[in-house]
Amino acid sequence: MFSDPPTVYRPFMEGVYRVSAGLFRLGAQPIPWREDGRAEGHTFALDRDYGRFVASKVAAHRRAAHEYQGEAGLTPELREAALSHVARTLAAESGGLMIWDGRRFTNRTLGWAAELGLRWGSVEGLTRFDAPLASLVAEIAPLTALDFLGLNAPEDLAVVARAPEGGRDWLAAAHVLSPQHWDPRDKLGRDFVAVHAPVAGSGPMNATAPRLVEAVIARGPFVRFAWGVAMSGRLDHHPAAPPDADRAGETRFDPDRAFLRVERQTLTGFPSAHGALFTIRPYVCPLREAVATPEQARPLAAALHSMTPEQVAYKGLTHLLPELLAWLDEQGTLKEARGGPALHSGA
Ligand code: HEM
Repeated sequence: MFSDPPTVYRPFMEGVYRVSAGLFRLGAQPIPWREDGRAEGHTFALDRDYGRFVASKVAAHRRAAHEYQGEAGLTPELREAALSHVARTLAAESGGLMIWDGRRFTNRTLGWAAELGLRWGSVEGLTRFDAPLASLVAEIAPLTALDFLGLNAPEDLAVVARAPEGGRDWLAAAHVLSPQHWDPRDKLGRDFVAVHAPVAGSGPMNATAPRLVEAVIARGPFVRFAWGVAMSGRLDHHPAAPPDADRAGETRFDPDRAFLRVERQTLTGFPSAHGALFTIRPYVCPLREAVATPEQARPLAAALHSMTPEQVAYKGLTHLLPELLAWLDEQGTLKEARGGPALHSGA
């Protein structure tokens, strides 16, 4: 079993909210706001939350598998390049708990194995065996090779394609079972600019779309982070999933029910197959844990202040922001006073 605690990422430590590329070279470029300032080299994050991801993905799959995944003009070459990268890397990063022999993918934690045809996307010869989390997947049947690999990974998966002539790009495949209030079906077949059009303030980033897509395909791999404050810890916020407290009109800010949701995303290009793999791993951390010191409260407040009203609305924070900022203000000052020498001098 995977036993590491999930990393607590705090991208807000920069003290500013940005809608920009923010790409770090995977395995090479240090993440400036990480406490240890380290670079990160992994694509898949296998930790103590593994079972939670699988359980959530299985529930989404059982509710409506077709609402979360699909393909649009994915070539066999790009399917093979992306899926073989997923199978190989997931196994390599699993510490021996997953095995890929080029044909069969075995997961010793979920207790299932299948033969994958990576070029045409087939999944055949599914077998099941005793394993610690076998009950989670006992009643589910994977539909395609992408579906099987996606169910084995905590990360959501997407494939971007670009036409060899003309340079048009589009989202050619998606297996996104933990979306944050977007519907993968709205994005399939669309280009970078259309995918990002709903993002408030995405104009400048979208103006550089051809350069970004070129970088992602030809110059990666990269890692990037997106973040927000959510009022539920649920992973799956597909617009068609049953609603919960997050982004419900009547929800008020409550520090005991709030979460920092960070998405760690990686991008790996396959230039000869004219595309790239995009992975998305959400980290949902109770806000009190993510913001445990005044030194963390202040930059989060500053970052929220740096959002335009449109960005506040896009992030679902309009009704929460005044009380969230008041709470952060309290965290940023009260603790300082409590810990400060003047109160304890005894003079
Ligand atoms: C160079 C690559 C990429 C960059 C720089 C980028 C950047 C961004 C940024 C800055 C946001 C706004 C995040 C926020 O909420 O603060 C965003 C949102 C989003 N991105 Fe990307 N992104 C990239 C690739 C992709 C790809 C390949 C997909 C394909 C699935 C994607 C799907 C989305 C979606 C669905 C949203 C939310 C849009 C909505 O609310 O409907 N992104 N992205």
